[in-house]
Amino acid sequence: MPCSIVHLQSMISQNTIQQILSRIDVVEIVGSYVKLKKRGANYLGLCPFHNEKTPSFTVSPAKEIYKCFGCGKSGNSIGFLMDLEKYSYVEALRWLANKYNVEIEETETSPEQKIQQQAADSLYIINSFAQKFFSDYLLNTEEGKDIGLSYLKERGFTEETVKKFQIGFNPEARDAFASAAMNAQYNLELLQKSGLVTVRDERPTDNYRGRIIFPIHNQSGKVLGFGARILKTNDRAPKYINTPENEIYVKSKILYGSYFARQAIDKADECLLVEGYTDVVSLHQAGIENVVASGGTSLTPDQLRLVKKYTDNLTIIYDGDSAGIKAALRGMDLAFEAGLNVKLVLIPDNEDPDSYVNKVGAAAFREFIAANKKDFILFQLSVSLKDAGADSSKKSALVNQVAETISKINKAEDFTRQQDYIQQCAELLRIEEGGLHTLVNKFIRERINKEENKQSREEADAAFNQSQQPGDAADDNNLLLFNKDELQERAMVRCLLEFGLKQWNEEQTVAQHIFTEAEANNFDELIDNKKLLELMKFFKASYDEGLEPTAKTFLYNENLELSTLVVNLMDDQHEISPNWKEVFEGKINTREDLYKEEVFSCLNYLKLRKIKRLMDENQRDLEKHHTSEEQMVLLQVHQHLKKAEIELTQQLGTVIFR
Ligand code: GTP
Ligand code: MN
Repeated sequence: MPCSIVHLQSMISQNTIQQILSRIDVVEIVGSYVKLKKRGANYLGLCPFHNEKTPSFTVSPAKEIYKCFGCGKSGNSIGFLMDLEKYSYVEALRWLANKYNVEIEETETSPEQKIQQQAADSLYIINSFAQKFFSDYLLNTEEGKDIGLSYLKERGFTEETVKKFQIGFNPEARDAFASAAMNAQYNLELLQKSGLVTVRDERPTDNYRGRIIFPIHNQSGKVLGFGARILKTNDRAPKYINTPENEIYVKSKILYGSYFARQAIDKADECLLVEGYTDVVSLHQAGIENVVASGGTSLTPDQLRLVKKYTDNLTIIYDGDSAGIKAALRGMDLAFEAGLNVKLVLIPDNEDPDSYVNKVGAAAFREFIAANKKDFILFQLSVSLKDAGADSSKKSALVNQVAETISKINKAEDFTRQQDYIQQCAELLRIEEGGLHTLVNKFIRERINKEENKQSREEADAAFNQSQQPGDAADDNNLLLFNKDELQERAMVRCLLEFGLKQWNEEQTVAQHIFTEAEANNFDELIDNKKLLELMKFFKASYDEGLEPTAKTFLYNENLELSTLVVNLMDDQHEISPNWKEVFEGKINTREDLYKEEVFSCLNYLKLRKIKRLMDENQRDLEKHHTSEEQMVLLQVHQHLKKAEIELTQQLGTVIFR
């Protein structure tokens, strides 16, 4: 099935999804987050995505979408939940299923997928069992209380905190957990995969012995794996042992604490990043909840994406001489390019955030952070400067590097920020501000040139393809963003979505007719916007399968790019205002009445484009050298095309369907 932009990974069956979708009420869903007032056919409220005093956030029950005229956000109910709650598509569906009491039925999947899914499910189940075992051991056994809990209390963690983070303990004994798990009939192979158990001397043996256990949760609170901290200090064993990579524990995608932090991050519009588990837990206990840990390695693109989902502001809090700092710095270039504002705070005196907040208290900690936030770029520059020392070639490379980094801030609203950087970096580098300015501009120009080259190539293509269309395709302001070619393409796909299931004639539905024409006129090449083409193909695949696709089918597609395209397509349409409808009831023709005419003209515009392109091609061919016989054939082709063009143009003006 041609569905390259549509990922069919969801394990929820199509049938369940249909059931959920049929019950979705966008007003109810959005209304549970935003106070909505009815205004005509729509609802109006204060936008939850940006700060506003006068409402510009509208919900249309008819179109099943929301749209904010202030910040421009728009989408469907599922997109709303994904955006606001930071749910994944599947999580949003599960939330809705729960809300509307729809029982979830899982899809038939390929055998490999099934095995993988089963392994993942089993690992979650084992982890949940293990987490309960370790918690229970910590809180309810003498050994757990004497050794584990007393250690945690000594470090200042309250029982409430321990319970919230589901911290546990596994005793020193060889197989306390392993034997409990085997008794409970858990599969040994999966226990090994989970990293909880190994086989030593042919006996299942605990991996985390005599350790405090920190469960690591995913976004919805399920346990992905563990970090197990040793208690004895003089041991040669590693301080922490972590779950090995498996179906669910993928280190590069995990930020410890994100499950507990997500709402606080949203609220503070800032994410604090620390190194360790204990840093997260201590700060949380102190009431600083917008905090996650990276585990002391440099941030991966996946982790940055996770942060960016919640906020644009990332503040790294590390201890001053931590080895982790260099690692963290390495990842930060990516963060900067991703448009994150990165700040850095160094904790003094060999403390880490955990020990420091315990030492000075929450209020002083907050003050310290606020007062010592350094800009990341400036910090990195001062570190690199120290490294470069007196080496002048290293220093000049550094100047270039700094200029290039600064040149990447070139959004209009960040202009002042850029100017500030230039001034401050010039000062640090001890060079002329004007010189750095020039260098930054050079990098900006270079990039713009690169982009313009690309653009002008595209524009040349577009100009070449531009045909002289009869009639005016659009007078809607919103649509001025698109050129005529694209408008025609959009109109055609909209017809397909809107009228595809209606009859075109006695033999064909509109969809069948469009696809016949698409084949005959090679739309694959004719249509410039490949996303529209893919949407069409996806429609066709679904139609050919005997499903009855409509705009709604795609409105809720897992692929946000696709569903947004559909939202916007359905928004293109010229609506007849309700008042007009009342005044002219019965007289005015709606799109619905005139759908055949609309389909007909959409297709004709595209066919005209095809003819125009063929004529151009023919023309270019004519300009080359030919025998008179060849010349003759080309001229005939031209005449033929011209005739077809005239016919099409005339039809466009005169055809009337009833
Ligand atoms: P405490 O010393 O108990 O306060 O723990 P901490 O979390 O502050 O540890 P530390 O500052 O030494 O290390 C920071 C983070 O790096 C830890 O939370 C772990 O994620 C990671 N880390 C430290 N040591 C090890 C180790 O030996 N193995 C692994 N896999 N990770 C480690
Ligand atoms: Mn520590």
